[in-house]
Amino acid sequence: MDASVLNLLRDPAGIPFYAVVFQGLYILTWAFHALFVFLSLGAMGLSIYGTFRKKTNENWKILTGHLLQTGKISVSLLIVLGVAPLLFTQVIYDPNWYTVNALSGLWVVIFIYSLLVGYSIYYWYYYANKKDSSSSSFIGIISFGFLIFCGLIMHVFSVQAIQPDMWMQWYAPNGVVDTSGTTFNPEMSRFLFIILLSIPVVGLFLQNYGDFIKTNEKFTENFKKFTRDLGTKIATFGLILSLGLFVYWMSKINMLSDIYAIIIYVSFTLMVFLTKNLKNSYYTTAFAIILILLISGFREYLRYRLMADIGYDIYDYPVSIEWSSITMFVLTFVSFGAVGVSFIATLAWKVGKSKGVFDASKDKTVSLMANMLLWILSLWCVVYFAWGFFTLFKNSI
Ligand code: HEM
Repeated sequence: MDASVLNLLRDPAGIPFYAVVFQGLYILTWAFHALFVFLSLGAMGLSIYGTFRKKTNENWKILTGHLLQTGKISVSLLIVLGVAPLLFTQVIYDPNWYTVNALSGLWVVIFIYSLLVGYSIYYWYYYANKKDSSSSSFIGIISFGFLIFCGLIMHVFSVQAIQPDMWMQWYAPNGVVDTSGTTFNPEMSRFLFIILLSIPVVGLFLQNYGDFIKTNEKFTENFKKFTRDLGTKIATFGLILSLGLFVYWMSKINMLSDIYAIIIYVSFTLMVFLTKNLKNSYYTTAFAIILILLISGFREYLRYRLMADIGYDIYDYPVSIEWSSITMFVLTFVSFGAVGVSFIATLAWKVGKSKGVFDASKDKTVSLMANMLLWILSLWCVVYFAWGFFTLFKNSI
């Protein structure tokens, strides 16, 4: 393929900052998107199993409700966190992303509706489960199917975007133009590896959960041990399975002995050891986040290499630095990101740790953070609109 066509498809205005920064942000934000994809699917899948077990087992009864809640919140987080890598992809790999959206246009529309229907049914599943309705597991399976299907569609976009050699063949098979927007070419070894990472992630989550409730008198010792041990079993099995699937994927794309792939094999092996032996699972989770970042980096390493090989190098993208939007972005990221996320995390932590009902207004740290956030939000709105209107009208005033 001749990369000059791709280079012509790039934004003529250039990019507002250095490509490497967007690339780094893409890797970081996709890792967080993926973390919540894995947690939601893992928690949801296990909750469906729990729905069958909870009739005869008290531990499963408590755990299933908590897994359902975890999955429900994680879906909303994965959606919010999916927007960021989407934007960064569009900045540096815009020819790839838009071409794929045209080739698979119908799937883009189907994706939106599947997500809408799948997530709405999740709420139905949640309430049916709460009422112990006999159809709740069936409803859960349908919602689960829709959400996995969303992941499959996303995967198809990701892999088609890095095969520019195939675009013409997909667009006009045998020379006949196909404008149906139904191009759909999954790469099963990659998809299975990525989606089944949900198993070790939910296992690690259960270990964390077991450690988190250790000091909470609301739960029995039997339940605490049950979740911790179940977490260790699931995480160990999931990690070994993921390592096997990763090796399989590498064998399919002839990268078995690639140095980056070897680093990932070693990291998975180390994770198995940590999961089984570390007493404090929060450390294991910190390492798991590094591993997900490594996997996210590996996806980008593949894409960068494939594209650079045909002459599309993101580091050659014309740059026209736009300080105003960069400043706004950094300020938003730091003020909202840092204060907002720490506020929600601190609040959630304290609610979980408190013995009775947690009164946030009596807690100094939480109240301070809440007030800071309100001030930042108000100030942010003023700056955003003032700056926006100034930019809009500066040439006409
Ligand atoms: C239940 C819903 C979803 C699931 C299960 C899901 C799952 C996935 C998976 C498995 C991948 C990796 C595919 C691969 O590398 O082969 C992926 C990539 C991605 N997802 Fe999601 N996703 C979901 C929803 C979303 C939403 C709502 C957004 C955006 C708002 C989003 C944005 C992205 C982006 C930007 C990528 C990377 C695409 C690329 O770089 O080529 N996802 N998703």
